[in-house]
Amino acid sequence: MKVFVTERLPEEGLRILTASGVCEVTMWDSDSNVTKAELLKGLDGVDGIICLLGDKIDPAVLDAAGPNLKVISTMSVGVDHLDLVEIKKRGIRVGHTPDVLTGATAELAIALLLAAARRIPEGVEMVKRGERGGVLWMCGYGLSDSTVGIVGLGRIGFAIAQRLVPFGVKRLLYSGRTAKPQAAEVNGEFVPLDTLASESDFVVVTCPLTPETRGMCDEAFFSKMKPTAVFVNVSRGAVVNQEDLYEALSGGEIAAAGLDVTTPEPFPTNHPLLSLTNCVVLPHIGSATYSTRGTMAALAAQNLLGGLQGADMPCELAF
Ligand code: DGY
Repeated sequence: MKVFVTERLPEEGLRILTASGVCEVTMWDSDSNVTKAELLKGLDGVDGIICLLGDKIDPAVLDAAGPNLKVISTMSVGVDHLDLVEIKKRGIRVGHTPDVLTGATAELAIALLLAAARRIPEGVEMVKRGERGGVLWMCGYGLSDSTVGIVGLGRIGFAIAQRLVPFGVKRLLYSGRTAKPQAAEVNGEFVPLDTLASESDFVVVTCPLTPETRGMCDEAFFSKMKPTAVFVNVSRGAVVNQEDLYEALSGGEIAAAGLDVTTPEPFPTNHPLLSLTNCVVLPHIGSATYSTRGTMAALAAQNLLGGLQGADMPCELAF
């Protein structure tokens, strides 16, 4: 069976595919992203695809693959880059990589929160320029005794909450569709989104991108936040209205922001948000540790093999 892999797959995944003897693998073996034209060419007649978040799997891509396509295995937990309606219609199975990236993404969220709140990138620049100031120079905001609001207490939100407890956070609020029983473990209080926005010193967005959450963090949301509050997004860029975020940050409506996700990705280097010293932007590296990416690759390979052979997939998406 023919398989196309849209990026250089870590060894842990490649080894599994090669050892299986089940498929012939063509991989986009380059540091630059596969172009749409190359993707369409590579997919011709494949039985399976291993893809990543940046690969939009839309009807044109599915058409290019053709009727042999049995399985799409994405090396991500999120699946908003996949046209699930169309995929389901064509009877194609989907595998993804939840759980294995939860810890790495939670760590990154906390690093980003601290980087934005304690102005770490700005401080690094100050040292390079040899600048120095008075007692309140380069002051920021600390987690101790603070209120943190987590939007979406799923796997990653919960892992962030667990890691925040030892920082001495006073209250942990969360919002979402329903209250979560595991919230008791972190003394989480289920509150409406507006309450979370107005009472939190730190807002961390971890919810999936859905029609309901698209553009959810907009002017109305930021206007409810405290002027001393820090906003962090590790979910998807499209959950945030970036123009409204720019206005909130530049107008002093909120203190700072840390974004691991943006619209689009890669982020244009001339984007207004990059001109702000109180906005820290990362290139979607939540799961980017060597071991996590290796584990994700192995899981993606196992999902693919299960799908190709009509067998169980370790993490098949139910949709
Ligand atoms: C994913 O894999 O969907 C996440 O964005 C990891 O950061």
